[in-house]
Amino acid sequence: MKFPEGFLWGGAVAANQCEGAYNEDGKGLDIQDVMPKGVLTGPTKEPTPDNLKLTGIDFYHRYKEDIKLFAEMGFKVFRTSIAWSRIFPNGDDAEPNEKGLQFYDDLFAECHKYGIEPLVTISHYETPLHLAEQYNGWVNHDLIGFYERYVRTIFNRYKGKVKYWLTFNEINSVLRQPLLSGGILTPREELSLSDLYQACHHEFVASALATKLAHEIMPDAKVGRMILALPIYPLTPAPDDVLAVMEANHFNDFFGDMHVRGRYPGYMKRYFREQGITVNMTAEEEKLLAENTVDFVSFSYYSSLCEGRKGKESESANLMGGKDNPYLKKSEWGWTIDPQGLRYVLNRYYDRWQKPLFIVENGLGAKDVLVDDGKGGKTVEDDYRIEFLHDHLVQLGEAIKDGVPVMGYTTWGCIDLVSASTAQMSKRYGFIYVDRNDDGTGSLARYPKKSFYWYQKVIASNGAALDE
Ligand code: BG6
Repeated sequence: MKFPEGFLWGGAVAANQCEGAYNEDGKGLDIQDVMPKGVLTGPTKEPTPDNLKLTGIDFYHRYKEDIKLFAEMGFKVFRTSIAWSRIFPNGDDAEPNEKGLQFYDDLFAECHKYGIEPLVTISHYETPLHLAEQYNGWVNHDLIGFYERYVRTIFNRYKGKVKYWLTFNEINSVLRQPLLSGGILTPREELSLSDLYQACHHEFVASALATKLAHEIMPDAKVGRMILALPIYPLTPAPDDVLAVMEANHFNDFFGDMHVRGRYPGYMKRYFREQGITVNMTAEEEKLLAENTVDFVSFSYYSSLCEGRKGKESESANLMGGKDNPYLKKSEWGWTIDPQGLRYVLNRYYDRWQKPLFIVENGLGAKDVLVDDGKGGKTVEDDYRIEFLHDHLVQLGEAIKDGVPVMGYTTWGCIDLVSASTAQMSKRYGFIYVDRNDDGTGSLARYPKKSFYWYQKVIASNGAALDE
């Protein structure tokens, strides 16, 4: 198997899950600083010592060591996010925080030193806390203006340094996780559908505005949208189940349609009408959406789910719900493992949107055991992770043979980090083990796992090693 010339192999992280240094160098608080248990419980009033993200894996101070390890694996691209609250500590400040800007200058310079291209998520589940508390996050129209100021600042600062940008991480997850994804403090059960879809609308407008500005400020830049991809299968061939899948797909495809087609689809207008949902929008906003569609489509892919009249609701901590698939095994955290779903979703998305695709998250969250490597050091024998990634990459290769243009592939959590949904350290995705435990103990030392050397070979052979 050979991947296309120039294929962007790499790995992905998010600032809030790895940087730590939550209150250093002028950084303001963000929602993650008060979410010690991820999405499992509500937010705390202020940061608490059990919140692992406050220290993360200390990437803020150790990024040079980590980027060097990524370079050793042969990364061509490294996806990370900019923590909005490092740049604008409250989100609505008039002036940016120079020390925050400087940190990302240094980080991107370190990447370029090894020929690694940064891929930057502008907003990855880390809305400044002040914007959540004062404005109720993206429900409020004012967020568009604050986001605009933020993106203008980072585009002007990092032009020539960052070519690939993603406007919002997994934008579709706001429907189930309004706080995590949209900085919305009103609990999901109390939030009206009008407010929820109004928040979506504000994010779409902000995303289109960012796309417009990126193209003006950095003519070479490529802007992508990012959604949580979820292939949905019918539980049976009963037409009712097939239609249930079609309808469930609409709630995810809606986000892609808005970014790629730039207008509200008929199925969503019907839903709004029938549910009595009102979304306020101006003609100017509609024009902005239509004229500023994205250059590529990116997504995370972990698992698939089922829909239908019968069947058990999945009990996993999956951000999107759905029903269990009796044909698939699950990870230790209950996420179904479905490599073929990746080929399916790649084909489906390309058929629908006809844009280059970029897989910006994929991986297996698993418990690892650190063992002696026989050479005086330590490692993890993570054959299960190798198998997971191998099988997904084979399916990615099949999709490329199907004619789907794929720009690149970044595995999630290329170095162990704090989980988004459960806020654990023990849910590990990395090629590099980080010595930190769920109770916060550990030296933070880094150890390459067996998968580190496997991925190194896959990249060096541009995919050919997958056939071995
Ligand atoms: C995606 C997010 O939902 O999945 C990441 O973009 C997250 O931030 C990843 O970490 C894996 O989820 P979790 O809950 O296992 O960390």
